[in-house]
Amino acid sequence: MMQTNFIAPSILAADFARLGEEVDHALAAGADMVHFDVMDNHYVPNLTIGPLVCDALRQHGVTAPIDVHLMIEPVDRIIPDFVAAGASYITFHPEASQHVDRTLQLIRNEGCKAGLVLNPATPLGYLDHVMDKLDMILLMSVNPGFGGQSFIPSTLNKLRAARELIDASGLEIRLEVDGGVNVDNISEIHSAGADTFVAGSAIFGAAKPDDPHHYDTVIGKMRAALATESDD
Ligand code: DX5
Ligand code: ZN
Repeated sequence: MMQTNFIAPSILAADFARLGEEVDHALAAGADMVHFDVMDNHYVPNLTIGPLVCDALRQHGVTAPIDVHLMIEPVDRIIPDFVAAGASYITFHPEASQHVDRTLQLIRNEGCKAGLVLNPATPLGYLDHVMDKLDMILLMSVNPGFGGQSFIPSTLNKLRAARELIDASGLEIRLEVDGGVNVDNISEIHSAGADTFVAGSAIFGAAKPDDPHHYDTVIGKMRAALATESDD
């Protein structure tokens, strides 16, 4: 059973000098949650933001779910810090944890929703023995580390296979896609089974500071694209 669609702007593409305002605008334009990309210059060749910034968004007044995508290695030590900083979902890459099952339990025991992120070349088999510990499966449709890359088309078949696994499990697990999602391809990605759509550059990247309705337009077009195709 498909869940309600979530649009999750990735703040990686936002103007960090005005982050609170950027997030407010995206949420006011209809975004459902905030996608928060954490990179460590070790697991991926880029360095971004940590718990301090997550906490700052909460202090700013953001009440929407914050979807923390950890591209870091190791994983476990920083999890309590993100929980304390107000994370809602915490997802990580299984290659970055020595003990995937333990990390998933740690996230849930701390009171957050837990998920695994699979890179384009990472097989779905990682999910086999931990489905009951997942609230989210995130399929990367680009190689992690940078915004603004192109959607890798083979992700569509992988989404279909992941959707079958979720439906067969009968569990409530969101199926998220991250990388190169835009107004033109979101409908096809939804048809392949995704219910949660990360979009960075498509939403923030083309921002026009003089147009306060810019985000409404992009997110509105994404919603319209999701609504036009039939449920299957
Ligand atoms: C990439 C990040 C993505 C990124 C997506 O490693 O995980 O969340 O911000 O950016 P776009 O939507 O520009 O591909
Ligand atoms: Zn991400």
